Amino acid sequence: MLHKVTFAIAVSAISLLVADCSNSKKTTSSSEMPSLKETFQKDFAIGAALNGQQIQEKEPNAAVLVPQQFNAITPENIMKAEIIHPEWDKYNFDLADKIVAYGQKHKMEINGHTLIWHSQLPAFVRRMKDADSVRHFFTDHITTIAGRYDGKITSWDVVNEALEEDGSLRKSIFLEKLGEDYIVEAFRLAQKAAPNTKLYYNDYNIEQPKKRAGAIAIIKKLQAAGVRIDGVGIQGHWRASNVPLKDIEESIVEFSKLGIEVMFTELDLGVLPNPWDSDAADVNMKAEYSAKMNPYINGLPDSMQVKQSKGYEDLFNLFLKYKGQVSRITLWGVNDGQSWLNGWPIRGRTNYPLLFDREFKPKPAFYRVIETKTKSAGKKAF
Ligand code: G3I
Repeated sequence: MLHKVTFAIAVSAISLLVADCSNSKKTTSSSEMPSLKETFQKDFAIGAALNGQQIQEKEPNAAVLVPQQFNAITPENIMKAEIIHPEWDKYNFDLADKIVAYGQKHKMEINGHTLIWHSQLPAFVRRMKDADSVRHFFTDHITTIAGRYDGKITSWDVVNEALEEDGSLRKSIFLEKLGEDYIVEAFRLAQKAAPNTKLYYNDYNIEQPKKRAGAIAIIKKLQAAGVRIDGVGIQGHWRASNVPLKDIEESIVEFSKLGIEVMFTELDLGVLPNPWDSDAADVNMKAEYSAKMNPYINGLPDSMQVKQSKGYEDLFNLFLKYKGQVSRITLWGVNDGQSWLNGWPIRGRTNYPLLFDREFKPKPAFYRVIETKTKSAGKKAF
């Protein structure tokens, strides 16, 4: 009898362990899956970056999953200048209008991404030599796009990635041709064209002290000039094994002292080796492919699932601790197979940075994230 009981206990313990590590493999139907947006409804919005197919609801799995899980969306690419404003006098609003219609249909927050960014500029801008042409583009671009969507979208990343790692201003075409006041000018133009839209500064690594100081200087300069800034977006492209929790917590505290919203706008936790051992997210950084740098082509080992789940769990515990200051958490993509991290900084790798696997099934990290809320609610109840 004793043997039978011991055996039964051992079997259930093992089943629990296996279930924890293999949630990604089980076929969970969407109706029995918890919902991120419902779980954190009283805390912060939960967003995802959507690609063109998803915006047009051409991907059946995403068409079901996205409205079930997320109440905020950001276009991953289709509002970038290269796509929305390909030539001097030509705007291409087709997909941008579609994301607005999609978000309105599902009553989601829509974050416009992005008005002023040094990267993904159309060829006609990259060729510009004189300051007047750059200023003309800059003014027309912000005024036209921010004006068109005012009252229809929630917010804009007005300026994206304007800082170097040391906190100084990035040497971009805008800094070079328009001078260091271009950020204030961008927000001033956006404020005029879009009085009903929230205006944000967005960047990666601004949780790091030097770059954070640069972001704080930008925000203070805007405030001193009497120009509206409503929030700051910390992108959150981190490595699962190295989430900088202390820096993140300090940043939430420091940024919110400035009286603005704090958001995590492009969250993903990559699991692959990084050639430079860094968390930079500069799209221009590239490295050579080698098999050693692509170790998980046949699936993510349980040890890495556990590490990643812990990274997400720690982060969401922190977000909950500061739920009064943190207004939105956006994942940069819907499923692992669609993440930019499969192609950057090395093309053709197999990465697993998000909460849903390549078949749109929830991963162990997803359940850990949900548990941060159920556990914190449980703590309060007793
Ligand atoms: O759509 C074209 C396709 O027609 C063409 O055949 C193919 C060939 O390379 O390129 C396709 O465009 C790619 C586009 O993503 C859509 O998939 C671009 O090459 C590629 O550079 C682009 O990458 C995007 C990158 O920003 C640059 O815009 C990533 O998807 C997107 O996730 C990434 O997002 C950025 C944020 O905007 C800012 N913060 C960092 C973040 C990650 O880099």
